[in-house]
Amino acid sequence: MKGRILIIEDEPGMRLGMSHFLSSSGYAVSPCEDGADGLAAIEKGSFDIIITDLKLPKYDGLSILNHAKKISPETGVIIITAYAEVKTAVQAIKDGAFDYIAKPFSNEELLITIERFMKFRSLEAELSRLRESVTEKTGFENIIGVSPAMKDVFDRISSIAKTDVPVLIQGESGTGKELVANAIHNLSLRKDKPCIKINCAAIPENLFESELFGHEKGAFTGAAEVRKGRFERANGGCIFFDEIGDMPMGLQAKLLRVIEEHTVTRLGGNEPVKVDVRGIYATSKNLKDCAAAGKFREDLFYRINVVPIIIPPLRERKEDIPYLIEHFLKYFGDKYAKPELKVAPSAYNALLSYHYPGNVRELKHALERAVLLSKNGLIDFKTLPDEFSAQGIGCPQFNNLPVNTPLQKGIVFLEKQMIMNALKESGGKKIEAARKLGISRKVLWKKLKEYSIE
Ligand SMILES: Nc1ncnc2c1ncn2[C@@H]1O[C@H](COP(=O)(O)OP(=O)(O)OP(=O)(O)O)[C@@H](O)[C@H]1O
Ligand SMILES: [Mg+2]
Repeated sequence: MKGRILIIEDEPGMRLGMSHFLSSSGYAVSPCEDGADGLAAIEKGSFDIIITDLKLPKYDGLSILNHAKKISPETGVIIITAYAEVKTAVQAIKDGAFDYIAKPFSNEELLITIERFMKFRSLEAELSRLRESVTEKTGFENIIGVSPAMKDVFDRISSIAKTDVPVLIQGESGTGKELVANAIHNLSLRKDKPCIKINCAAIPENLFESELFGHEKGAFTGAAEVRKGRFERANGGCIFFDEIGDMPMGLQAKLLRVIEEHTVTRLGGNEPVKVDVRGIYATSKNLKDCAAAGKFREDLFYRINVVPIIIPPLRERKEDIPYLIEHFLKYFGDKYAKPELKVAPSAYNALLSYHYPGNVRELKHALERAVLLSKNGLIDFKTLPDEFSAQGIGCPQFNNLPVNTPLQKGIVFLEKQMIMNALKESGGKKIEAARKLGISRKVLWKKLKEYSIE
C-alpha cells in the first residue's frame, strides 16, 4: 500500500472514478460524499492525503482544509476546483493546502499531484532525520563535541541519566562540567524537580552546615527563622556539588552520613527529615590524589565516584575546536545581530592552534569578544585577545607542550624550536639565522652544539 487517501466529493461519478483509479494504483482509499462525513473521517482515521472538492454539501472544502490542518498537520490536502473557483483555490494554498487541480482533470494529473506530495513528504522526513543526525554527530543537548573523548562523555550521560547513581564529573576549569551536570539532570526522571547547585569553593566554612542542612529558629545567633537547607529544597530532584574537593573535611563526614542514611537534621533540630536526592559532583582537582594527601575522605571518594565522567582539556581534543567555533559564532552572531560572520585564515589558524588553558570557556569568551570587535562581518587576527598572537605562531609545536612542563624544560624546547625555524627559513645559512635570532654567530654555534642540531 502506497498511502491512505480520503476522497471527499459529492458527485458520485467523480467519486467512484477517482476511488477506483487510485485503488488500482496501490492506494487505500476512503470515499465520502459530503463535508460532514469527511470531517468525521478525518477525526477518526489517519490519512496521508485528503482530496476534497471545494463546493460540498454541509461543510465546504476550506473548512475541511482548516480542520485537517489542526487535527493532522502532516496530512497533505489537495483541493479540486471548478474553473471559476481558482481564486478560492489560491486562498486554500495560502491556508496550507498542498496544491489544487482544476476540473476537468485526467487521472494522470491527479496521480502526479499525489506522488509529488508523497515525494515532498519523504524529503521532509529525510531532512529532519539529517538534522537530527547532525546534532547527534556534533553534540548532545547543547554540548558540542565530536572527539572520541566527548563521544564517551555523551555515552556515559545517556546510560546513567535515567538512574539514580551518583556521578562524579572531573575536568579542568572551563571544560563544561556544569553543562554536563545540567544535561544529566535534564535527561533524568527528576527533571521536573529542582537541581540545586552548591559551590563548595564559595561558601564560608561556618555557613556550610546551615546551607546544606538548614536550621531551626534560634539555632544560632542570627537564625531568626526556620530555614530549609539545600538538601531539603532539592527533595525529589538533584543536588549538584561543584568543586566537591574544596569541601571542608569535617563536613565531608556529615555529607557521607546524609548520602548513606537519606536523612538530614536541621541545625538546632533533632528530628531527622527524609530526603530523596540524587547527587552529582564535580571537581577540577584529582580527588584520588587529595585523598592520598589526606585532604579528602577516602570513604566519601568511593561513595561518590560510582560513575566517573572525565572531560579532557580542550587542548587534548582539538578536533572539537572547529565545531565549537561554528557553534559560538552562530550563537554570538545571533545574540549581537551580526549574521554571516567570516573568520580570516590567520585568525582561524590561531584559534585552532592555541592551547586554551581556560578550555572551552576561554574559547567562548574569545569568540564573543571577536564577534563584538568584528567589522564588516570579518573576524581577523586583530579581534582576538593578545594571548592568541603571543603564541608561537612560527612554531606550533610549542602549543603541544603539556601545561605542567617545568619552565626550564619549556624554555629549552622553545629555544631549540626557534633556532631550527630560523635555520630553515634562512636555508641553512648560519649567519642569516643568527641575524634573524638577534644573536652572534658564536652564540648560535654554541647552541647548535649544545642541542646537537645538525
Ligand atoms: N562542549 C561544550 N559545548 C558548548 N559549550 C561548552 C562546552 N563546554 C563548555 N562550554 C561552555 O563553556 C563555559 C564553561 O563551561 P562550564 O561552566 O560548564 O565549565 P566548568 O567545567 O563547570 O568550569 P569551572 O570548573 O570553572 O566551573 C560555559 O559557558 C559552557 O556553556
Ligand atoms: Mg563549573
